[in-house]
Amino acid sequence: MTEHSAGNGRENTNIESLLKEGRVFKPSAAFSKGTEVGSPAAWEKLRAQASKSPVKFWEARAKELRWEKPWKKALDWKFPFAKWFVGGKLNASANCLDRHLEGPRANKAAIIWEGEPGEQRTLTYRQLHREVCVFANTLKKLGIRSGDRVAIYMPMVPEAAVAMLACARIGATHSVVFGGFSAEALRDRIQDAQAKAVITADGGWRKGAIVPLKAAVDDALAQCPGVETVVVLRRCGSVVSMKEGRDHWWQDALRGVGADCPPAALDAEHPLFILYTSGSTGKPKGVLHTTGGYLTHAAYSARLVFDLKENDVFWCTADIGWVTGHSYVVYGPLANGATVLMYEGAPMTPAPDRFWDLIERHRVTVFYTAPTAIRAFVRLGAEHVRKHDLSSLRLLGTVGEPINPEAWLWYRKEVGGDRCPIVDTWWQTETGGIMISPLPGATGTKPGSATKPLPGIDAAVVDKDGKPVPKGSGGLLVVRRPWPGMLRTVYGDPERYRAQYFSQIPGCYFTGDGARVDKDGYFWILGRVDDVINVAGHRLSTMEIESALVGHPRVAEAAVVGHPDELKGQGITAFVTLQTGVAAGPEMVDALKGAVAKAIGSIARPDVIRFADALPKTRSGKIMRRLLRDVAAGVKTSGDTTTLEDFAALAKLQPVQDE
Ligand code: WT7
Repeated sequence: MTEHSAGNGRENTNIESLLKEGRVFKPSAAFSKGTEVGSPAAWEKLRAQASKSPVKFWEARAKELRWEKPWKKALDWKFPFAKWFVGGKLNASANCLDRHLEGPRANKAAIIWEGEPGEQRTLTYRQLHREVCVFANTLKKLGIRSGDRVAIYMPMVPEAAVAMLACARIGATHSVVFGGFSAEALRDRIQDAQAKAVITADGGWRKGAIVPLKAAVDDALAQCPGVETVVVLRRCGSVVSMKEGRDHWWQDALRGVGADCPPAALDAEHPLFILYTSGSTGKPKGVLHTTGGYLTHAAYSARLVFDLKENDVFWCTADIGWVTGHSYVVYGPLANGATVLMYEGAPMTPAPDRFWDLIERHRVTVFYTAPTAIRAFVRLGAEHVRKHDLSSLRLLGTVGEPINPEAWLWYRKEVGGDRCPIVDTWWQTETGGIMISPLPGATGTKPGSATKPLPGIDAAVVDKDGKPVPKGSGGLLVVRRPWPGMLRTVYGDPERYRAQYFSQIPGCYFTGDGARVDKDGYFWILGRVDDVINVAGHRLSTMEIESALVGHPRVAEAAVVGHPDELKGQGITAFVTLQTGVAAGPEMVDALKGAVAKAIGSIARPDVIRFADALPKTRSGKIMRRLLRDVAAGVKTSGDTTTLEDFAALAKLQPVQDE
């Protein structure tokens, strides 16, 4: 094999020595020179300033936004409930749009969009502003008011961003539901948020086929009597059913609607959005973010971490259905007046080089994607990358899961031409924005480490009592002080908010992740310590998948665990016991996988289903997940099994051939 054939990334035999050597990749002098925080000393100065008076530090960041009315009190912290910039008024859409119309940015591209079939559209800040104003007025015309919840179930088209910003403009709280979620998952989210309206499309393009979004909405709404209005974007031209009085075509609804829509001056703590995420129970949590603090954090982190410059073309590949899409496709970059690339479809459609082709043609400068995508590209081979001129790139980022050093090094070499720094960004739906990350002009990076908390963020690795663990030891990742982008509550369930995040470690926000800090103060994320699995960068609750499985009439009991997967980080193994007399077989496997896809979406479809006569349990009846994880991973179980109620159950777990 030649030096360049990075077919599966394994021929990088120098990786181990490189890791042993603990090599640090320093940003080049040329890169550092042009950045806001351009040296370790500048970073340290900012960090020291932030930790000396964190609230003041965040106030200075908040002042970079446009406020209609200044705040009276920067932080009101009644553990565990925070309010930031109390008494202040602002509008998120005005900060992302109107602010940029006053100078040369007015005619700058805000969104460059490409559909999967290849259509292209560019919206300047002025055009995007106009579309948002017209659509905001349309929402008002349809009866949507400040404080109403609006579900958005859209493909990756500019109108998805328009819908979000239009809601923000009038003070309606959006709840974006990922277009890959099933009708049932959509229904649950609409019901929980008591959404009054749904914004959707006839469909979206994915892998050469139409995702029938409107049909899923129709199914979901059969059980959502609270939804009075549905706006349907004509995207694919497919045939859909429209319910008289309830459903309106987007393109028709805005006919004759004016573009004069002053942004509502909203309280800093006005709910901007709800985003559902999986936790360690069967029911997804509605993570609530508010306006002033969230936008402060999103704007500051986008600028510092991605070093956003006037001429950048920033491409974050995340779907707007995830928090990454909220903070780094829409709010963060637009608040900075940046140009974003938005792409509708799948990475390998029509060919495995689609991403590189997009980067070359649109001269993308900053590229932010998920490790799982990088691993898929590694597997496909570097020849697809090398076909394209990627010299426009100057900075790379990753998010969503730990990145293995092999993939990191491949990314750096093949995509970044050994020239672009990589920012490995750790954060969560709950944190609103990036929490732990290099600053690209200042931080030396180590492959696989998210490096250090951003200035202003007090993250630490502690034991169960909240005491910091010694350097090098594993512990629990917490945040010890409130920060502006933090979630404010779980929608409709403050008790769950407290229990989930603030009851496990005294005085701290608990992230659910394990981590360790090395001798240089670098954070290494070790993964979830709760019943949450991370599949291809997407967070899934084992309990949620279990409840989908036991919802099947033939299933008696189910336990779901993650198993290591080279590509996706983790795969899903389900251990299932069937009702007596029901035969286990391939049809049952298909039926159960289908049941999960129906209840949640294809992303949650188990990779492996194993049938058992009984599940291994402790005397108190708790399923022994640790043991099942070992079985799923094919590891000989090492743990203590003396409390196993039925020791024989383990031996009876039969792998069923699968794909
Ligand atoms: C969980 C949050 C934040 C946007 C995408 C995921 C894992 C996230 C990293 C990283 C290691 C990471 C954590 C975290 N995670 N980024 N850079 N390195 N792990 O958002 O669905 O809320 O999931 O993703 O386990 O807790 P999310």
